Amino acid sequence: MRIGLGSDHGGYNLKSEIIKYLTEKGIECVDFGTNNSTESVDYPMYGEKVASAVVSKDVDYGIICCGTGIGISLAANKVPGIRCAVVSDVFSAKMSKAHNDANMLSLGERVLGRGLALEIVEAWINTEFEGDRHSKRVDMIKQIEKRYSK
Ligand code: RB5
Repeated sequence: MRIGLGSDHGGYNLKSEIIKYLTEKGIECVDFGTNNSTESVDYPMYGEKVASAVVSKDVDYGIICCGTGIGISLAANKVPGIRCAVVSDVFSAKMSKAHNDANMLSLGERVLGRGLALEIVEAWINTEFEGDRHSKRVDMIKQIEKRYSK
């Protein structure tokens, strides 16, 4: 599994922890920046970079972080084909994959402690999409995207 990661300054420390965690587990990580926590940068840029790598299949999944996880997820979700879930608990992490086939996960460094954030990541990477009745609903999401694309 190859995972793309990105953050703004507000999510930089959490992104670094996640990269360390995944790398130690032998999972390949591609870091799309930002490269430090002190210089203020704009989260949409990093959400888009990772989202673009996911839709082009350069990476299998994306994990992104900002202060809340919200802004960067909103940016990522503007890229057609992306289903990015902002998650703050383990149950929702599992469901976002099992039922919604989320291909990106977004976390808030200012919301979550390191321990919970890593548990969420662990749960998310180990959960598979269940398909079946959920496929129809994910297809409906894709149809909405199509209807509003020019
Ligand atoms: C940056 O200060 C902060 O606004 C950003 O990290 C994020 O929380 C936005 O949603």
